[in-house]
Amino acid sequence: MKYVYIETMGCQMNKSDTERMLGMLSHFDYEETKDPEKADLLMVNTCSIRQLSEDKAFSQLGVWGKWKQEGKNIKIGICGCVAQQKTNKIFSRAPYVDFVLGTHKIYSLPEVIKRINNGERVCECEETNLPTVNEEGYRINRVKSTNAWVNITEGCNNFCTYCIVPYTRGRERSRLPETIIKEVKDALNAGFKEITLLGQNVDSYGKDFKDKSYRLADLLREINSIQGNFRIRFVTSYPTDITDELIETAVELDKVCEYFHIPMQSGSSAVLKAMNRRYDRETYAKIVEKVRKMVPDVTITSDFIAGFPGETEEQFAETLTAIDEFELDYCNVAAYSPREKTVAAKWVDKFIPEDVKDERFQRLNKKIQENCLKSNLKYVGREMEVLVENFYEHKGKMINTGKTRNFKTVHIPCDKDLTGEFVNVKITGAKTWYLQGELV
Ligand code: SAH
Ligand code: SF4
Ligand code: F3S
Repeated sequence: MKYVYIETMGCQMNKSDTERMLGMLSHFDYEETKDPEKADLLMVNTCSIRQLSEDKAFSQLGVWGKWKQEGKNIKIGICGCVAQQKTNKIFSRAPYVDFVLGTHKIYSLPEVIKRINNGERVCECEETNLPTVNEEGYRINRVKSTNAWVNITEGCNNFCTYCIVPYTRGRERSRLPETIIKEVKDALNAGFKEITLLGQNVDSYGKDFKDKSYRLADLLREINSIQGNFRIRFVTSYPTDITDELIETAVELDKVCEYFHIPMQSGSSAVLKAMNRRYDRETYAKIVEKVRKMVPDVTITSDFIAGFPGETEEQFAETLTAIDEFELDYCNVAAYSPREKTVAAKWVDKFIPEDVKDERFQRLNKKIQENCLKSNLKYVGREMEVLVENFYEHKGKMINTGKTRNFKTVHIPCDKDLTGEFVNVKITGAKTWYLQGELV
């Protein structure tokens, strides 16, 4: 038996890949350890969405490289988006690395391990147009939780001018419905209570099938018909790809939750155009209005970038007003970071100074906090169903925390561990990041 430690950075895609890689490795006598010092194999599953994430990956590798130079008998690997992007150039920057494994090749991992254990140094990064996710029938070692992430698409065809994902994850590929359904059933049999379907643009699901009539709505219908009490979510939705059929299906199906993540990126139509997003402010407004009208109590969250090249103060202010006007319940924000290969990275003369970007980032966060509280206050006094995710002690009191169907976090004081149970809760108070509730 050998031990593997994987440090996972970045989005759910990477977290899901890590679960798959740990599953694969378990077939070859590698057991996961949470203690890097105990590991024989150390891997970092990297993200390149911003420069900071990339730098983090190399500094992690540096620490392990030092262990190796000090004589520790370990193997070191880098996988994920930085690996896919930098390929064998990584060996010259971090010579102690034994293998580089791109996002397209995670199913080569067992073979790669065999080769590095024979003393080879390996780089497996070729792009493929085939789905890269568990088509080999390996186990998936899911993180213990109530929610299971199930990839439905890989890659992205949108080429937003700031974004590296199309370069690190390749063209959009949909996984076969039968593979997805099997994974969902396995997760439910293993006790998971919530399935989140995952893709850069879930609404594109099925566009690449020969028979284009099977789409996300059909997949949701099929999963909804599986026996049992569980919830279904899906992320991320590209604004203009959300069809009426999808919204209607989400409303009609009892297990599909009232939650849409619809990244807007900027409140300014001019900036959206420069970002190569296929909608303007008015179009986004119409989509959000429709979702709100059709889905009672829906939570809509979004992503925004502060300080995109050329963004003026007036255009930035349009992002602040968008968050108010569309009553966005919560948003992720990031300061713009130029990424190699992307179109916007070449607009150097339009780059916004770091201090201005940072100041806009802070103002955005303040706005988001205000709106989050406003949105939470709407639910005080209501009775809501909560799926309990955690049980812990806080200031001498035992607390269960979980989520409502519409993705609000609720704290419920209660001495009994209710993890994994659906409970009815009366909402008694609202804070910025969570609701307070009592069991009814
Ligand atoms: N597919 C999703 C986003 C995936 S990337 C969508 O289309 O919305 C997650 C988020 O990272 C993006 O929504 C964006 O807000 C942010 N992001 C991507 N590239 C970035 C960059 N170069 N600088 C700062 N933030 C970035
Ligand atoms: Fe990136 Fe745009 Fe694709 Fe989202 S839709 S992953 S932001 S290129
Ligand atoms: Fe995800 Fe980061 Fe890659 S956000 S897709 S891990 S670049």
